[in-house]
Amino acid sequence: MSHVAVFPGSFDPMTNAHLDVARRAASLFDRLVIGVLNNPKKRPLFDIEQRVAMIRDSVAEFSANVEVQAFDGLTVAFARTNGAGFIVRGLRAVSDFEAELQMAHTNRKLEPAVDTAFLMSALEFGYLSSTLAKEVAQFGGDVSNMVPSPVAAALSRRTTEAR
Ligand code: PNS
Repeated sequence: MSHVAVFPGSFDPMTNAHLDVARRAASLFDRLVIGVLNNPKKRPLFDIEQRVAMIRDSVAEFSANVEVQAFDGLTVAFARTNGAGFIVRGLRAVSDFEAELQMAHTNRKLEPAVDTAFLMSALEFGYLSSTLAKEVAQFGGDVSNMVPSPVAAALSRRTTEAR
């Protein structure tokens, strides 16, 4: 039986913490589908096509069993559509735990056949968030150690355009 997982998120934009989780999940599951939530209410910095394209470029080196798709609606529905039995989420610190626990229980209630698998973010990326990377980039700081290079390039273009 093949094990399929979805890795859902806003990814606005993908950080090195996300990339690390994606890489490790790709080695654990037969197929990994990275799901980029299309939620216009959140007013993302990057539109859905840009986020999907940046992730595709970022995962290129381990993309043999990885797909990137935009989705809207429920994560469990996205999992079902892809035949996934698992939702992968990264945990950076204890502060992530409460919200993730709530989401995992909600998803399990909605779809008992889909379980959530947590991976601890790599220690060196434990402090990272998309919000932080955007803020550093906005004020001209160096984000090359925080985000994959396609994302760093896109953030730098955005910063230049805004000036
Ligand atoms: O990167 P994020 O913003 O932490 O990801 C959150 C995400 C996309 C996983 C979560 O908001 C989500 O699953 N949204 C889809 C709607 C849904 O399924 N809600 C019920 C589960 S809490």
